[in-house]
Amino acid sequence: EVLDAGGLVALPGFVDLHTHLREPGREDTETIATGSAAAALGGYTAVFAMANTDPVADNAVVVEHVWRRGREVGLVDVRPVGAVTVGLKGEKLAELGTMARSLAGVRVFSDDGHCVFDPLVMRRALEYTKALGGVVAQHAEEPRLTVGAQAHEGEVAARLGLTGWPAVAEESIVARDCLLAQHVGARLHVCHVSTAGTADVLRWAKNRPAGVAGRMAEAVISAEVTPHHLLLTDERLNGYDPVNKVNPPLRSGGDAEALRRALAEGVIDCVATDHAPHAAQDKDCEWSAARPGMLGLQTALSVVVRTMVETGLLDWRGVARVMSERPAEIAGLPDHGRPIAAGEPANLVLVDPDARWTVRGAELASLATNTPYEGMELPARVVGTVFHGRPTAWDGKVRH
Ligand code: NCD
Ligand code: ZN
Ligand code: ZN
Repeated sequence: EVLDAGGLVALPGFVDLHTHLREPGREDTETIATGSAAAALGGYTAVFAMANTDPVADNAVVVEHVWRRGREVGLVDVRPVGAVTVGLKGEKLAELGTMARSLAGVRVFSDDGHCVFDPLVMRRALEYTKALGGVVAQHAEEPRLTVGAQAHEGEVAARLGLTGWPAVAEESIVARDCLLAQHVGARLHVCHVSTAGTADVLRWAKNRPAGVAGRMAEAVISAEVTPHHLLLTDERLNGYDPVNKVNPPLRSGGDAEALRRALAEGVIDCVATDHAPHAAQDKDCEWSAARPGMLGLQTALSVVVRTMVETGLLDWRGVARVMSERPAEIAGLPDHGRPIAAGEPANLVLVDPDARWTVRGAELASLATNTPYEGMELPARVVGTVFHGRPTAWDGKVRH
């Protein structure tokens, strides 16, 4: 069978370092099967499944379940992220070595949804993951600085009477963790950067001369930004629609602009979706009761094109870098994020750069429908995804 790919842009398959697949525990909102379908349709060939499941992925049994289920579904490389601490409680390190040596071969560890806020636990996590050749992906939020119903502490929140999550809650913990990673010579990946100040902290940390502190020559700091933080701002909160509630919160227009520039510059390495499906009753409710998070897998490319390509900040080469090459390097996935050698099974995505489409939550492959882009017309469409040499999505349909 020949699939016609005339006029399309070919890119290495996208790699998402930050996906919530909700299995085990919340299969009413997403499963590894439905999340993998959304990933394939979004152009992804690898996704990192976050550890905040129920039970938490803090042991070999859970990570092997996620890994095995991902292989059975077979649409995308599902890589389980291991929890840094037992139960995401931030107290006791989980058995990182056991998870690393399990079939799942875990190398990325995160307490996402909960910051590793005890600096001693973070230091030990960095040293342990370094010994395992892995990386800690930090949910960057100092929880003692965030209060109430979670909106960016700024003009809009003040006008709406929402209490906040100030920029300093993110910036202070990112600064601390960059210093810790450089002290022990470890790898740190900063999740969902959302403020201009965090970009400044990263720029400073990445440009420190080697040898200034501890074993800093061996340290590697990387960071991700979500599509929604590139495009959306806290002005979206005006209608109190909980679809716009997310951790970290949508920030100011100035923050979004600084994030776009930092991504273009390479200060922020890559785009990660933080795809966070939620049940209707957890979104169609009072702002304060709603769960934070939004869908992202099937809209990520289009939002990156809108914010980075249409603005001239990135060309298609740059899109390949931030959606595929850098995340594959950060996570150590050798068969993703690079050109294909002759005869090798490819991981790639074909994109129609001129297509336009209108987002409808009900039409997405996810079980949940909480997209913040409902009804929005977005540029560029994934026409096909090839995973290990086999088409997994073509023309909007999953191919099993
Ligand atoms: C995430 C979730 O729902 O698990 N929510 C979110 O708002 N991003 C957790 C997280 O990424 O912090
Ligand atoms: Zn998080
Ligand atoms: Zn997350």
